[in-house]
Amino acid sequence: MAEFTLPKNSVIKKGKNHPAPEGAERVKRFKIYRYDPDSGENPRYDTFTVDLDDCGPMVLDALIKIKGEQDSSLTFRRSCREGICGSCAMNLDGKNGLACTTAIEDLKGEIRITPLPHMAVIKDLVPDFTHFYAQYASIQPWLKTVTPPPAGKERLQSPEQRDKLDGLYECILCACCSTSCPSYWWNSDKFLGPAILLQAYRWLADSRDEMTGERLDELEDPFRLYRCHTIMNCANTCPKGLNPAKAIAETKKMMVERAV
Ligand code: SF4
Ligand code: SF4
Ligand code: FES
Repeated sequence: MAEFTLPKNSVIKKGKNHPAPEGAERVKRFKIYRYDPDSGENPRYDTFTVDLDDCGPMVLDALIKIKGEQDSSLTFRRSCREGICGSCAMNLDGKNGLACTTAIEDLKGEIRITPLPHMAVIKDLVPDFTHFYAQYASIQPWLKTVTPPPAGKERLQSPEQRDKLDGLYECILCACCSTSCPSYWWNSDKFLGPAILLQAYRWLADSRDEMTGERLDELEDPFRLYRCHTIMNCANTCPKGLNPAKAIAETKKMMVERAV
């Protein structure tokens, strides 16, 4: 399992220890990254011991229980609890994943939880997605056409054309892949990273889109696309089982094919 570097603001001290309730027999320790910019203090790790006999099975269940019963200031994002919204993405024992779909029992020993690596941290487990979303907006992620739609009808696709979107449309923009990519760590100001490039390919692969040439022009750049060095962390990390590296390779192939 790849061990990723910690968030940017991370000279980490030992923090508070929150024991399990008296009488708890089956317990699990969670070592959680804490950072509050308003406090003026360095980040720290707090340790929380949770009674597993009184907790749901997923890491997110434990975080919600800790926030409800041990420390209400613990801050993290979550919404759907079903692996659909992507908001609970974080680093779980060295691997990026979704807290709501990661079972506590699948992580052995004390579980160390930090925010997604190499992003600025707003508070505790909440990274700043401003730049990531700006990069997403930059690829213009919507259907772009020049011809009018058939009168009174939708723009249709054959089943084969629709199949080409499988493995792409399922992306929930959790950023687990991009924040596990070394090229993105060092060049995220210019390299779009695997998540955004998979999304870019989702529109390149769509038979209804009529701006393929313009989209490829936008990507043709030494950094935006070509900083991918096929390290494959992205495909190994994606909690939805997607393969951004393959989407990037397909995009590079389209670049070559249009040049000949
Ligand atoms: S394959 Fe490319 S995008 Fe994926 S982790 Fe490696 S360098 Fe990053
Ligand atoms: S490709 Fe996977 S890991 Fe990357 S943003 Fe989409 S769902 Fe998340
Ligand atoms: S809470 Fe929505 S993906 Fe985890």
